[in-house]
Amino acid sequence: MTLSMTAVRKSYTTAEGVIEILNGIDLDVGASESVALTGESGSGKSTLLHLAGGLDHADGGSVIMQGQDLAKFGERERADYRRTQVGLVFQQFNLIPSLNVAANISFHAKLAGRYDAAWELDLTERLGLAPYLSRFPEQLSGGQQQRVAIARTLAARPPLILADEPTGNLDEATGDAVLELMLSLAKNAGSALLLVTHSMRLAHRLDRKVILRGGRIVE
Ligand SMILES: Nc1ncnc2c1ncn2[C@@H]1O[C@H](COP(=O)(O)OP(=O)(O)O)[C@@H](O)[C@H]1O
Ligand SMILES: [Mg+2]
Repeated sequence: MTLSMTAVRKSYTTAEGVIEILNGIDLDVGASESVALTGESGSGKSTLLHLAGGLDHADGGSVIMQGQDLAKFGERERADYRRTQVGLVFQQFNLIPSLNVAANISFHAKLAGRYDAAWELDLTERLGLAPYLSRFPEQLSGGQQQRVAIARTLAARPPLILADEPTGNLDEATGDAVLELMLSLAKNAGSALLLVTHSMRLAHRLDRKVILRGGRIVE
């Protein structure tokens, strides 16, 4: 199993008091498996991805990634985990403005110690980015930046890719095409994929579909 979440709980303290967001998440994602995560706005999908990505701590339960318990990590192990074990594709692309497209794409792969020039060339061609490699992020359209963000994550071949409505700000036809491509490239990379999406059409194209409702996963 790549990712195994068991009885995971998470609440936030707000001005109105404590709000329980996740109250007993059980979710497994197998090696190279793709899982669509759906659920109403505010149901906790992003919160769940943040816990799996080591960006935030669970209040209870366990998050096990390739046999390692995230709760036992110190700061350095947590940073290593984020660098080498997971790839994030969020709606904000978080490209590095001072680096050109080619350097943005190889950045994480190099940090993760998995830089592979041939794979990167293949990715840039399949994502239609070959003509833009020497441009800077601000010289690209939103759709092009999105494809760079996807290429950057795939280039590092992380065991698990966490994608949070990654095409939410693209029109539906473009967004779906990019996601289809991401799906097949993740399979090529051998990465498991946990994808938050509103598109039922797309969710059906993944190996499995789960719903987050009332703080729990319902299949
Ligand atoms: N840092 C935070 N502090 C307080 N409340 C938060 C925080 N992050 C998210 N929430 C609340 O938790 C709930 C779930 O948020 P989120 O995980 O972003 O849901 P989703 O991604 O499914 O739309 C929402 O009600 C949101 O307002
Ligand atoms: Mg969200």
